[in-house]
Amino acid sequence: MRYLKLMFVLGFALAISSASFAQAKYIGANGCKMCHNKPEKGAQYAQWQKTGHSQAYAKLEDADKKNAECLKCHSTAGSVDKALLATIKVDEGVSCESCHGPGSLYKTASVMKNKELSLSKGMIEPTEATCKACHLGKKPEGHKEAKKPWNFAEFSKAIAHPDPTAKK
Ligand code: HEC
Ligand code: HEC
Ligand code: HEC
Ligand code: HEC
Repeated sequence: MRYLKLMFVLGFALAISSASFAQAKYIGANGCKMCHNKPEKGAQYAQWQKTGHSQAYAKLEDADKKNAECLKCHSTAGSVDKALLATIKVDEGVSCESCHGPGSLYKTASVMKNKELSLSKGMIEPTEATCKACHLGKKPEGHKEAKKPWNFAEFSKAIAHPDPTAKK
């Protein structure tokens, strides 16, 4: 009896600890679009679609689309552990969550409205280091030369998607 009780307590403790360590997963740009494509708030989804990031997978040759060595920088879904994939698709290219962190736990409006809470649930504030991991990371032998040398200010401007209503 005592033994059973102990097992119950242990099982309960395990359930709690695994719940609080729930891993944030990747939901894909469609999961952000419903809230982040309003023109009056900067239409982040549409802005992203205009950038090379959304085409980073589509532009690869067919054989390279299956090459893990390429996908680690050309596809968000291809750059992370398969266990972390929720609804994201490999063909989204470099998607929102490569820069903002996996969204499954912060995607609800009540969490998103609270920045500290969002950060505690996996949201990332991108910095230059986020970009450099791909832009200045180790590229395979014979990789195409970058068209321009890395410049954070200039490159950030080229992909910017600010919310004009956000208080800064
Ligand atoms: C249910 C609606 C909803 C969804 C889905 C959603 N967001 Fe948000 N997001 C918000 C709201 C609300 C805010 C607070 C600012 C505002 O009012 O627009 C916000 C703020 C943000 C911010 C700014 C944080 C800050 O304060 O600096 C980022 C970055 C962001 N969201 C990224 C994402 C990404 C990436 C996804 C998809 C993985 C996503 N959001 C999904 C509603 C949403
Ligand atoms: C460490 C990250 C990284 C890896 C690994 C990587 N790439 Fe890239 N790739 C980039 C970046 C960043 C760019 C954009 C270069 C720039 O600054 O113009 C790029 C650009 C390209 C372009 C040019 C796209 C265009 O618009 O002209 C091609 C083609 C390409 N990569 C193919 C590949 C292939 C094929 C592989 C695998 C064999 C690969 N890449 C692996 C980061 C990477
Ligand atoms: C290549 C990296 C990158 C990608 C991809 C990306 N973002 Fe961002 N995002 C940024 C950076 C950098 C900022 C500016 C952060 C700051 O203001 O400190 C930002 C800012 C934002 C903001 C806050 C805007 C504001 O002015 O408060 C929202 C919302 C947002 N992104 C949503 C998205 C969504 C949704 C997607 C995909 C459809 C996306 N982002 C794709 C890098 C990225
Ligand atoms: C997951 C890898 C990855 C990350 C993180 C990343 N990039 Fe990129 N970026 C790429 C690849 C790959 C390309 C080439 C896409 C293509 O043209 O096919 C690219 C292209 C670009 C381009 C040229 C294309 C355009 O639309 O003008 C700019 C500018 C750029 N990135 C800026 C940034 C900035 C700024 C950040 C950080 C806030 C960042 N990137 C983070 C992989 C990444």
